[in-house]
Amino acid sequence: MNDPRFSGDLSDSIVAAVDNGLKTLSGSFQSSRESPCEGVEAEEMSDSEKAHAAGLMRVNHIGEICAQALYEGQSMTAASSAVKEKLRKAGEEERDHLAWCSSRLKELESRESLLAPVFYASSFCVGAITGLLGDKYSLGFVEATEDRVVEHIDEHLDSLPEKDLRSRAILRQMREDEKRHGEEALAFGGVEFSERTKRVMKILAGVMTKSTYRF
Ligand SMILES: [Fe+2]
Ligand SMILES: [Fe+2]
Repeated sequence: MNDPRFSGDLSDSIVAAVDNGLKTLSGSFQSSRESPCEGVEAEEMSDSEKAHAAGLMRVNHIGEICAQALYEGQSMTAASSAVKEKLRKAGEEERDHLAWCSSRLKELESRESLLAPVFYASSFCVGAITGLLGDKYSLGFVEATEDRVVEHIDEHLDSLPEKDLRSRAILRQMREDEKRHGEEALAFGGVEFSERTKRVMKILAGVMTKSTYRF
């Protein structure tokens, strides 16, 4: 079946984008791969350890909500069908991360961020505008974003309670996937952003991290 995003009809693209947004926010996407924490023993954690792990996994979950929105927005405005397809495929793989983080939050008896709709809408707009700048910048933006995600996963692996082996297993697999997404985006023709631009993106990402740890 043809994806309407490739038909050139803007109204179909918008319908597909809204559909993806509703599915992302309602948690209806299922993982296509087994969760990396499958078979990993859950160790007993104190209430404060669980609350801290949940705060970090809530940040990771909102990051995956943003990833869906960015890829969707970038794919909608990408110039070439090859790049549209590449971004759409990467977005599909990110759905595994979304589902894994969501189920880990439930295991930790916590909830997803209340700010998800706001972050989805704003990330979608950022993605759509980035796509309009041109495919090489859009792919460069993917690499710069994934670079930041890898850094923040490393920070979370340092900060998670030692005993939280299940969250750790998820984050380690996500780190591997995100690193590959960034490398593939450059290999596909993306331009690497300057360190200065990446630093600005890091500051903006910090706003998301701080606001969703608790809310
Ligand atoms: Fe991801
Ligand atoms: Fe990724």
